[in-house]
Amino acid sequence: MRAARYHEYGGTETLTVEEAPDPLPGPGEIRVRVAAASVNPVDWKVRSGDVRDVLPVDLPAIPGRDAVGLVNTIGEGVRGVRVGDRVFGLGGVTGATAELAVLSAWAPVPAAWTDEEAAGAGLVSVTALSGLKALGPLAGRTLLVEGAAGGVGSAAAEIAVARGATVIGTASERNHAFLTSLGALPTTYGAGLAERLADLAPNGVDLVLDAAASGSLAGLVEIAGDPAHVVTVADYRNAERLGALMANAVNDSTFLAEAGALGEQGRYVPRIERSYPLEEIARAHAHSERGHVRGKIVILV
Ligand SMILES: NC(=O)c1ccc[n+]([C@@H]2O[C@H](COP(=O)([O-])OP(=O)(O)OC[C@H]3O[C@@H](n4cnc5c(N)ncnc54)[C@H](OP(=O)(O)O)[C@@H]3O)[C@@H](O)[C@H]2O)c1
Repeated sequence: MRAARYHEYGGTETLTVEEAPDPLPGPGEIRVRVAAASVNPVDWKVRSGDVRDVLPVDLPAIPGRDAVGLVNTIGEGVRGVRVGDRVFGLGGVTGATAELAVLSAWAPVPAAWTDEEAAGAGLVSVTALSGLKALGPLAGRTLLVEGAAGGVGSAAAEIAVARGATVIGTASERNHAFLTSLGALPTTYGAGLAERLADLAPNGVDLVLDAAASGSLAGLVEIAGDPAHVVTVADYRNAERLGALMANAVNDSTFLAEAGALGEQGRYVPRIERSYPLEEIARAHAHSERGHVRGKIVILV
């Protein structure tokens, strides 16, 4: 099969597109013929070698954590899915950006989602749901999403609106119309946030989800008034110090099905800033690494 790969840790120049062995699904897994995969920050954090102590990979490695495609092989013990079904989902830390990918969590793609949208829904929806669930009931609460224009933040904002929260999102000004389109009230991040929030949420902010990893967690805890009302998916070091909640992506098909159900209802649609062909994987990683993706970047395979 054709696959994006890197043979050593390093910069985007290590990325190449070449023939690689077809992967086989193990028990409880499926293999899909990939239509599209998405780019997540973890892809280039792993590729660079910066996180090799906690997330080591076998080299050569195929980048990519999530994908959409048609089911092509079904592993032992898997029920409820058939060859030819169109699913989106998650594999391991690597392996998705190839013609064939193994998934360990998946759900049917909502009929209205394009392949790009479905590819962009995997990792960010389970991460957003994991963070939102840690915060408890959302209906009637005011939720601040720090980093609301990115993949996780935009998913969290739109899903929280669907769950009945009033959502305030932070982003640079060029993304404020985007946040409004998600149903969130936009404001800028950084100095003066507490004062801006006093205008936007005169009764205060109840809950905070941090998807920015910008070092702002202490300020967010102050805004919420209680570290137990703040969850981060990105800043574990400060979360431990401050007593804030931490959430992680989970390869859980029920989370993907929950995101898909919202997709069916038209209440969650992954937003795609740009699609790249497989051959341009290095440009796609460079785009993500600049840190200002609006929604998601997708690779068409
Ligand atoms: N724990 C897990 O399992 C898990 C899973 C997924 C992701 N993550 C982590 O969560 C973080 C977000 O992931 P992602 O996929 O959403 O990344 P992403 O899509 O690359 O995020 C880019 C967004 O970050 C915003 N941003 C940049 N600087 C900011 C700042 N100082 N304050 C607020 N927002 C800022 C940008 O908005 P502007 O362009 O408007 O500045 C842009 O929209 C990453 O660190 C990622 O590694 C963790």
